[in-house]
Amino acid sequence: GAVSGTPREEEGVRRRDFINIAAVSFAGVGGVAVLYPLINQMNPSADVLALSSVEVDVSAIEPGQAIKTIFRKQPLFVRHLTPQEIQEANAVPLGDLRDPQTLAERTKEGKPQWLVTMGVCTHLGCVPLGAAEGENKGEYGGYFCPCHGSHYDTAARIRKGPAPLNLEVPEYAFTSDTVIQVG
Ligand code: FES
Repeated sequence: GAVSGTPREEEGVRRRDFINIAAVSFAGVGGVAVLYPLINQMNPSADVLALSSVEVDVSAIEPGQAIKTIFRKQPLFVRHLTPQEIQEANAVPLGDLRDPQTLAERTKEGKPQWLVTMGVCTHLGCVPLGAAEGENKGEYGGYFCPCHGSHYDTAARIRKGPAPLNLEVPEYAFTSDTVIQVG
């Protein structure tokens, strides 16, 4: 009785230990399995790398039209200015501008018709209208921010409203006559 009871008890303890250890290990493995996806989600490197540069084929953008795409998770406008819009932009005295820049400074040499800007209002970051919404180019023919009424001209320079700066021109280059690489 008493002699055989001890091993049984010990065996029982060992089993419990084993079960506890197994449970802890399982929790450990489970924890890692759950954490990995979370860590991968939090780590933006792959995502950011994938978007760190975008190619835009501009061949289908007619004069007077613009397209909206995404660059580094933010809206990007590529606009094909008409000769008249170019003329309007060039006719503005720099002294009239809050953030003085010529159209030439904001476009590539020999290609003043291609205006590439971020679609992010420099006031509080809303997306200005005018890219795809032709009717809403605002008083100055460029872009209009519906949030607090900033007006940008045909070179996307701030002309009226609370925004302090022109729409930002990102780094970009033409890789061919009709393809722009941004970033
Ligand atoms: Fe555009 Fe305020 S965010 S005017």
